[in-house]
Amino acid sequence: MALVCLSDFEAYAKQHLPKDAWDFIATGADECSTLEENLKAFKRIRFRPRVLRDMSAMDTRTTILGTEISFPVGIAPTGFHRLAWPDGELSTARAAEAMKTCYIASSYASCSVDEIAAAAPAALRWFQLYIHRDRTISERLVRRAEAAGFRALVLTADVPYTGKRRDDIRNHFRFLSAVKLKNFEGVFEGKDCSEYGVPAGSIDPSVTWNDISWLRRVTRLPLIIKGILTKEDAELALSHGVQGIIVSNHGGRQLDGTPASIDALVEIVAAVENKIDVYLDGGIRTGSDVLKALALGAKCVFIGRPAIWGLAYKGEEGLRKVLEILKEEFRLSMALAGCRNVSEIGRHVVQYSKL
Ligand SMILES: Cc1cc2nc3c(=O)[nH]c(=O)nc-3n(C[C@H](O)[C@H](O)[C@H](O)COP(=O)(O)O)c2cc1C
Repeated sequence: MALVCLSDFEAYAKQHLPKDAWDFIATGADECSTLEENLKAFKRIRFRPRVLRDMSAMDTRTTILGTEISFPVGIAPTGFHRLAWPDGELSTARAAEAMKTCYIASSYASCSVDEIAAAAPAALRWFQLYIHRDRTISERLVRRAEAAGFRALVLTADVPYTGKRRDDIRNHFRFLSAVKLKNFEGVFEGKDCSEYGVPAGSIDPSVTWNDISWLRRVTRLPLIIKGILTKEDAELALSHGVQGIIVSNHGGRQLDGTPASIDALVEIVAAVENKIDVYLDGGIRTGSDVLKALALGAKCVFIGRPAIWGLAYKGEEGLRKVLEILKEEFRLSMALAGCRNVSEIGRHVVQYSKL
């Protein structure tokens, strides 16, 4: 059967992955209302297409933090890619390199930062970080990522504690037997890592905005904060001198009951006033979702689960296919909405009532 859209890859992955691995990838927190809302909110937005504007030459490229990418869709940080495909994140990095887009590697990757860098040296790679209670763990990881050519740090801010994901508890985290967190090899020796691969409470719940200055002393890499959902926190991010924000509710896996990330985007874009890049993840499933997010002010979006579905289908080739489909759908949506390039995409492209 030909796979023609991202939900075809989802169906394939659901059918072929072991149930506990599938549950880990698919689940949200608690009643999964935010998980569902991330998808529904996109479907409520309507376009205002313009016509007769010569759509014979289309350009989907954009630039993020000074690097050109072939279209405004990157790969969000998700852990444990070896659950989906034997060489895991190596395939992810190669697909990003082939498609000339950005890959944010998770701290919880099942390949190390060095292995990922060696697999795709030319890929635009950013590194996602949690701040651990033991700061030396985070500091060492940052230095390794920097040395391995990762070009920005993405600090995930919405996980003082891990959200309650019922399926993982019911499944007793059995999926973990299939993978190792290679960035932490030797770090937690002898400790109980039966919950998401690191000791419970390893991530520091006492982190505050003051820790941004600690991070600044550790690295000169540009810093992006992931997990912002309010204008208040966007303003704090700005005043702490970060280079970008990812509007995200962690794919509905943390606080259940937050708005869809696309609904949180508008107030954040208004607060940031174009001073830094605002990115978005959560619920992107079609090229027209990408167009809607850009119309509402995102510079680029990132896909979480769909990237893993692509890997589950055929590793690098499968993820490339997912990205190619999104790129082509995005190009077509742009053309049908009357935008020749990303700079022509703006608020006028959508009807949006929640202002
Ligand atoms: C299986 C899985 C693992 C994830 N692991 C991480 C992680 O290690 N770090 C992080 O910042 N976000 C993580 N996320 C959240 C994603 O980066 C992203 O915010 C979310 O998946 C976007 O929503 P989408 O799946 O609807 O595209 C994970 C999400 C999933 C589904």
